[in-house]
Amino acid sequence: MENKRHKKGYRKMLRTLALHKPKREQLDAYYSAVEDLIENAAVLDMDAFIQHGRITCLEHSLHVSFVSFKVARKLGLRSREMARGGLLHDFFLYDWHVTKCREGKHAFAHPVIAKRNAERHFTLNEVEKDVIVKHMWPVTLWWPRHRESWIIIGVDKYCAVLETSHQLWESLRAGNGKPSPLRTGVEKAEGWFKK
Ligand SMILES: [Fe+2]
Ligand SMILES: [Fe+2]
Repeated sequence: MENKRHKKGYRKMLRTLALHKPKREQLDAYYSAVEDLIENAAVLDMDAFIQHGRITCLEHSLHVSFVSFKVARKLGLRSREMARGGLLHDFFLYDWHVTKCREGKHAFAHPVIAKRNAERHFTLNEVEKDVIVKHMWPVTLWWPRHRESWIIIGVDKYCAVLETSHQLWESLRAGNGKPSPLRTGVEKAEGWFKK
């Protein structure tokens, strides 16, 4: 069996989640919940589209997915569904800054597009579908049916602020010789590969 350290999705996961200073046990449990998703070529294609600033859609989705997974474990909720729904919640595969979608305005339409794309590649359960389709509440008025969906609504917004502020921090520190927290995180992840 191929060593997971050589897999594209696994490496991307490590690099992205280093920002959250994860424990090894958390990473292993998380990867086993999302392995088929994160190693899927269409999911990896999300890395070609920018979500916020220089953060790609895949990086944002990994943040949302992993933080939701940790919160769900702490609260005794369905962490596998949170990890999977979180990773697919923005699975729309276009640059929303320039592309006008036929279904309507991006903010309203993309949860449905993400669910449709996700169902093309994977079998989703009811909780995962709810997590994906309701994550934009209250912009979309569809009322979340599961507690997991409420978690993702909060975590999605938290991650958007985190990603935007890290980028701001990085640009403020550029040129003064100090490494940004994001860069330190990437170096830490590269250290894991060498272990
Ligand atoms: Fe979204
Ligand atoms: Fe999102």
